[in-house]
Amino acid sequence: MPILATRPEFRMDSHQFFSSIKEQEEVSPGYFLLSIELPGHVKRPQSGQFFMIKVGMDKDPLLRRPFSLHRLISEDTFQILYRVKGKGTKILSERRHGEKLDILGPLGGYFEIPSYLDEAILVAGGIGVAPLLSLAEEFRRLRKSVKLILGGKGKEDILCEKELETLGVEIFISTEDGSYGRKGLVTELFEDHLKVQSSELRAKGSELKTPNSKLKTQVYACGPRPMLKKVSDLARTYSLFCFVSFEERMACGVGACLGCAVKTNPPSPPFAKGGKGGIYKMVCKDGPVFNAEEIDWDG
Ligand SMILES: Cc1cc2nc3c(=O)[nH]c(=O)nc-3n(C[C@H](O)[C@H](O)[C@H](O)COP(=O)(O)OP(=O)(O)OC[C@H]3O[C@@H](n4cnc5c(N)ncnc54)[C@H](O)[C@@H]3O)c2cc1C
Ligand code: FES
Repeated sequence: MPILATRPEFRMDSHQFFSSIKEQEEVSPGYFLLSIELPGHVKRPQSGQFFMIKVGMDKDPLLRRPFSLHRLISEDTFQILYRVKGKGTKILSERRHGEKLDILGPLGGYFEIPSYLDEAILVAGGIGVAPLLSLAEEFRRLRKSVKLILGGKGKEDILCEKELETLGVEIFISTEDGSYGRKGLVTELFEDHLKVQSSELRAKGSELKTPNSKLKTQVYACGPRPMLKKVSDLARTYSLFCFVSFEERMACGVGACLGCAVKTNPPSPPFAKGGKGGIYKMVCKDGPVFNAEEIDWDG
């Protein structure tokens, strides 16, 4: 019997492909939209999944960088939307049409949309909007309503507003410096939104639940960890399920280096905060999307 040299989940080549850059555009200062060819043999990516991209042509930087699927714009083209942060993203922003990229993916799990849901509330902090556009598209395709609470430091950090409006998404905007939308944190806007929505529902005598007690509204969030923690706390206060997409630091992207571990609560409900039995999970392999209740936010 042949002996496998590598465990199947560690086989780096299983998702690897080379692909051409179709287009790259700076959509706001420091933010780039990159359209990449999706070869026919590569699995179609789903909303919430990500790619590990080797940003340069030589060995430096050695490590790939993780980027979420932003949009699948046709059968053979997908997009990532990214912010220039450090060396790797700067190099990527200088790559041009026709150049080849070495990519691993699609990786990780995806956002699920239960059939009983009527509505999604999406909460995005800055570049956190990147994976949420394709989720909004999927909700709208299923004729479900979508609200987006979108925040950034300033006006230039507010992305995708037109595209989301075209989809029929109701958008609420805040900026920390007050240069666009309401002044303040995106979590403050989210909190106010929940207050208004729940009092309107109470006034109408409506229910947040379906006849078989399943919640009709679900929250999906992506952004920095402190923002995700606050969104998760607020969702719990208003008895809403919340799914978060993490952007932890990564190295291998395939579960081999343990560099992206997050501490989780014990698996069986009720989720006991910090209780015994919680385990570390890998954002790259077990996520990047998690049920917020599963996370030990203080861990
Ligand atoms: C699942 C996932 C999806 C992501 N999707 C997007 C996206 O769609 N758009 C986008 O702009 N950014 C996204 N990020 C963050 C993005 O990967 C980092 O901004 C990027 O790796 C920074 O690389 P750099 O070389 O420019 O920065 P540097 O700070 O020079 O990076 C140094 C090292 O730290 C790692 N690193 C630094 N910051 C982060 C971070 N926030 N998250 C993960 N690794 C980091 C880099 O991979 C690299 O190994 C995502 C991260 C994850 C984990
Ligand atoms: S990045 Fe290596 S285990 Fe997740």
